[in-house]
Amino acid sequence: MHKPEVLITRRWPTSVEAKLKTLYHVTLNENDHPLSADELKSALQNYDAVCPSVCDSLPAEVLAVENKRCKILGNFGVGYNHIDIQAAKAHNLVVTNTPGVLTQSTADIAMTLLLMSARRGAEGDRLVRAKRWHGWCPTHMLGSDVTGATLGLIGFGRIAQATARKAHHGFGMKIVFFNPSAPSPNIIDELGARRLDTVEEVMRAADYISLHCPGGPDTRHLIDADMIGLMKPGAHLINTARGDVIDNRALIEALENKAIAGAGLDVYENEPHLDEAFLSLDNVTLLPHLGSATLGTRTAMGERVLANLAAFFAGQEPDDRVV
Ligand code: DGY
Repeated sequence: MHKPEVLITRRWPTSVEAKLKTLYHVTLNENDHPLSADELKSALQNYDAVCPSVCDSLPAEVLAVENKRCKILGNFGVGYNHIDIQAAKAHNLVVTNTPGVLTQSTADIAMTLLLMSARRGAEGDRLVRAKRWHGWCPTHMLGSDVTGATLGLIGFGRIAQATARKAHHGFGMKIVFFNPSAPSPNIIDELGARRLDTVEEVMRAADYISLHCPGGPDTRHLIDADMIGLMKPGAHLINTARGDVIDNRALIEALENKAIAGAGLDVYENEPHLDEAFLSLDNVTLLPHLGSATLGTRTAMGERVLANLAAFFAGQEPDDRVV
């Protein structure tokens, strides 16, 4: 039987690549380089399925390439703001993603950043490595309390709720959030959470603000200088969502002026080419987009893409169809 031709744009965990090879004619990106726009166009012309990830930009111009063979973009990741979804729809391309399986690992990274920012973990590590630590003293590197503080979440989907659960049950944090729609009352009760009416209210109320809204034009620079200006002087801003939800220049200015206590970032505008000004600031913790980066999670993400491709090629509706 004819096996579909499948291209995966970056290397995946070995076990899922092996499974993929038993089912399809698979082309791997052997040296794991980020594909250029021309390489992505050629992939759309030469493969039945292309499986991109967050680092592949698929704007309307790329998706409009002539003589497309591709019928499905099996995205390896839950976020799909790197794909022009309206253009994909217009070109009859099915797009799927991988929700659910990266919830816990991404919430773990949000908590990691929250704790590192609060307790100045990265700064302390740099100090010790640079042999600039001269011993314990009562006023050295004082951080912010986490236990009992208020966590504010912008967006209250799966990852935000998992973060709130860890913060509330693990650290006794009080939970406030903004979300356009109301979650189930059971979840609110379990977390003793308060739904606030606006993003501004969350910015004012919380000691730690964690962003969990989708990326894309609707949320670009949602957290701008005015929003940051509403934060308490001792507050911390945590971002595991998408880099452009924050106006990065406005955040740099607030950190330089010590208008807020700190920030913990896993994602950046124009990543991986983040604004160099971040690098010289001690009050920001910088991680390289590690949200879903565990072997278990990345394997589960690959399995999810496999299930979506299997359904599509069997003529069924993939579970995680976006368009
Ligand atoms: C996603 O799946 O959208 C994540 O950002 C990748 O880690």
